[in-house]
Amino acid sequence: MTHAIVQALIWTGKSLDVLDQRQLPEQTHYDRYTDAAGVAEAIKSMRVRGAPAIGIAAAYGVVLSVQQHLQSEQWRDNVAADIETLAQSRPTAVNLFWALDKMKAVLAENSDDVLSAVTECAIKIHADDKAANQRMGDLGAALLTGAKGVMTHCNTGSLATGGYGTALGVIRSAVAQNKNLNVYAGETRPWLQGARLTVWELAQDGIPATLIADSAAAWLMKSGAIDWIIVGADRIAANGDTANKIGTYSLATLAKQHGVKFMVVAPTSTIDWTLENGDGIEIECRNPLELLPACYDTPNSLVSAWNPVFDVTPAALISAIVTEKGIVLNPSEQTNGIRSLQA
Ligand code: MRU
Repeated sequence: MTHAIVQALIWTGKSLDVLDQRQLPEQTHYDRYTDAAGVAEAIKSMRVRGAPAIGIAAAYGVVLSVQQHLQSEQWRDNVAADIETLAQSRPTAVNLFWALDKMKAVLAENSDDVLSAVTECAIKIHADDKAANQRMGDLGAALLTGAKGVMTHCNTGSLATGGYGTALGVIRSAVAQNKNLNVYAGETRPWLQGARLTVWELAQDGIPATLIADSAAAWLMKSGAIDWIIVGADRIAANGDTANKIGTYSLATLAKQHGVKFMVVAPTSTIDWTLENGDGIEIECRNPLELLPACYDTPNSLVSAWNPVFDVTPAALISAIVTEKGIVLNPSEQTNGIRSLQA
């Protein structure tokens, strides 16, 4: 039986309800936020995660800030400080900065009813992302004709977006079109987005999935079980170099070795047009304790941990970038990279 697709973010009109993804799959618990600092903390602590969802949450955070401060004389300064706090929450997903720039542009318009104007903008960012996902789902699914198996990494579904999903949206659309696909999900260490979120989300939708240890990916490819790896993105440079969850670069390298195709699915809000290539993408390093067994967390311990949570896959390893504005095949072979999609 299929269920209504889970929602990571619910705007109530006065507050933002955030599904605490740290508690999944055991608990489906929403926290209610009424100020921007709370939303920034929800992003930082990964209650909400996934590039598009982070951007949408931040946009609602700006609405909450305006709602809280509008009556004070220095409300613009307070809102600017809240926007800075939101911008500091996580560094890699460009959707965060894209959404904040959109909200800043609305604030700069000096509308008579600024609260309505920012609310309208945040709701539109949310709705547009969902619509983009549906479109990318259709476009990406068309590439899967004849495919028997796919593998995905991290969580790129409804939980990570405005709804439906990017890479997971393509898988949803392919299954809806009765394409007979075996779906594999990597567990996605260290935070286990694949094991805790992706297979749960697919099961909610009645889509069977097989979980593998990240380290089993090469052997899975060698077995011939998969034709495509399908992933999302946190930031794509203008030449197609793509930052995504740590481990994506390994998968793309392995895919090349085994003749498996590699698809990146992301809305154009994930493209950073200011970067010519991926060298300038800031890669978030999270607390080593997310990785390190507690017994090593002692003074004078000889064991430490390095915990980068994203990596950059060179465009040359990518077979297709799917956006809501169209598909770019083999981006490194195009003279314009993905600039053809720039409005
Ligand atoms: O650290 P996370 O869970 O926020 O990382 C998420 C990812 O890397 C996703 O693949 C990416 O944001 C695309 S989500 C549509």
